Amino acid sequence: MQDFIAALPKVELHVHLVGSASVDTVLELARRHPDRGVPLSPAELHAFYEFTDFAHFLDVYVKVNSLVISGADVTALVLGLAADLARNNVRYAEVTVTPVPHLALGIEPDELAEALTAGRTRARAEHRVELAWVFDIAGSLGYKAGIATAEWVLRHRPEGTVGFGLGGAELGVPREKYRDPFLLARDAGLHLVPHAGETTGPETIWSALHNLHAERIGHGTSAALDPSLLDHLAANGIPVEVCPTSNIRTRAVPDLAAHPLPLMLEAGVPVTLATDDPGMFHTDLNREYLLCHNDFGLGPGELADLARTGVRAAFCPDALKGTLLAEIDAVCSPRGSNVTFMP
Ligand code: HPA
Ligand code: ZN
Repeated sequence: MQDFIAALPKVELHVHLVGSASVDTVLELARRHPDRGVPLSPAELHAFYEFTDFAHFLDVYVKVNSLVISGADVTALVLGLAADLARNNVRYAEVTVTPVPHLALGIEPDELAEALTAGRTRARAEHRVELAWVFDIAGSLGYKAGIATAEWVLRHRPEGTVGFGLGGAELGVPREKYRDPFLLARDAGLHLVPHAGETTGPETIWSALHNLHAERIGHGTSAALDPSLLDHLAANGIPVEVCPTSNIRTRAVPDLAAHPLPLMLEAGVPVTLATDDPGMFHTDLNREYLLCHNDFGLGPGELADLARTGVRAAFCPDALKGTLLAEIDAVCSPRGSNVTFMP
């Protein structure tokens, strides 16, 4: 099964740039900036990444983010992520970047865009991974930061920009608060992909759909509590970016037995599997696929379908989608072989 998963070409549609930084990368940055509250040894960093709840996770995330203070740091994160993606046979990824906190730490607006572009170009050349960008609002920072996010994106729009998102806290942050920046992004032709229903109920997902015109939902785990919402997502083909290990590590979901991914599949919701913050959650995309086999009982055909759903849910050119779908088919029933992974 591990070989099959490794051979499966994949896309990753929900991964945060800062949360993707490997332990080694974070330790290197922390040693450069020992005053930022991030531990300097592997054992301490491991303990630092034990989250007591979602709010604690966000506190830690902000501290790690504070280590990223230059364009060179941003490019290094992009290249580290690209190498990790390549190791997981991820061919295309939509990477979430949160501009406002980077700018607040002194990275110049142009510098941020140039650093991302440099990283994306090198990711393609050195790791054969195609990257695209989702720029998101940090929900707790307020309306003005939301508008500033949209304005930065509209002004700089680095090559590969495809989407606009909303992350961070959900509790006390109604999705409708960010209706205006989402309209600005929509008018500029960006795809809208807010987090919703990760730590609050299905009403947040309905709000993301109605008020933010969400085209995909980040996490969306609480959809499982509302059968009419599951039906709506299924009937309208609205994909949900599901990140099982993230949900367990942030304690948004108590354990894998309670995880709603199987229910979503059963309801016909398009599910795309993702890692969210692989560096902080000690995971990668191959591991998430294996988890679906081990803990949710998905067989090779169902894992291949998850990969196909990801490709269809991506905002990449149709030609790349066609190539990836054909390659997934080829892995499922290799030509010239009477061995097939399909049931
Ligand atoms: N949810 C909200 N904010 C985040 C997340 C997440 O899963 N990861 C990084 N920032
Ligand atoms: Zn996320």
